[in-house]
Amino acid sequence: MRILLDTADLEKIEYFNLHYPIEGVTTNPTILAKEGGDVVELLHKIRAIIGEDKELHVQVTEKTFERIVREAEAIVAAFGKNTFVKIPATDVGLRATKYLSDKGIGVTVTAVLTAAQGMLASNSGASYVAPYISRSENLCADGVGTVADIAEIFSKSNAKTQILAASFKTAKEVLDVAVAGCHAATIGSTIMQMLITHTTTDTSIAGFDRDWREAFGEESLLERLEKKA
Ligand code: G3P
Repeated sequence: MRILLDTADLEKIEYFNLHYPIEGVTTNPTILAKEGGDVVELLHKIRAIIGEDKELHVQVTEKTFERIVREAEAIVAAFGKNTFVKIPATDVGLRATKYLSDKGIGVTVTAVLTAAQGMLASNSGASYVAPYISRSENLCADGVGTVADIAEIFSKSNAKTQILAASFKTAKEVLDVAVAGCHAATIGSTIMQMLITHTTTDTSIAGFDRDWREAFGEESLLERLEKKA
């Protein structure tokens, strides 16, 4: 399952983009509001960090069909290829998705809470659907199950749409959607860090270090190899 970063924090994007196989960055109005400042400049900076080959997902803020379409076209014009326009899974959103997808603009239908919304978004030509996991599970619904249902529907209908799961509160949710057949997940830096680190890995390494030092002293294997080369 491919991983994208769900943040507009430039330092975090720089770090994870440089050191990990991150496939792009997703934003929404809340994520952008957290950083503040010149939002257009901020999005250009994100594009500059990830380069033109990675995905940048930018959400529309307009509410009517005509203005959503204008905003979507302006987003793609500003941030170039591999830019996806995030449009919420509403009536007007699905109509705009069909119009824009027919014109070749990549759309990520976001704030998806049901498999029915995912199916309609795909039928409307969406490149991605973004089911919200923790926002669903917080309401005692089955967010991971929704991803599994959408994956099955897409597979049975040979849909080209991919699932980009979002809204995670635990590392396990990320793993669960991967097992459920999700194509991609967008996660914040805190969850990313949770996926990377494990205390038992750290204590295991501490044990190896202790055993090595007891047997061979402070000299590392590298130093010993270089001495004999
Ligand atoms: O990208 C939008 C989605 O990730 C929202 O996440 O954490 O605000 O529920 P959250």
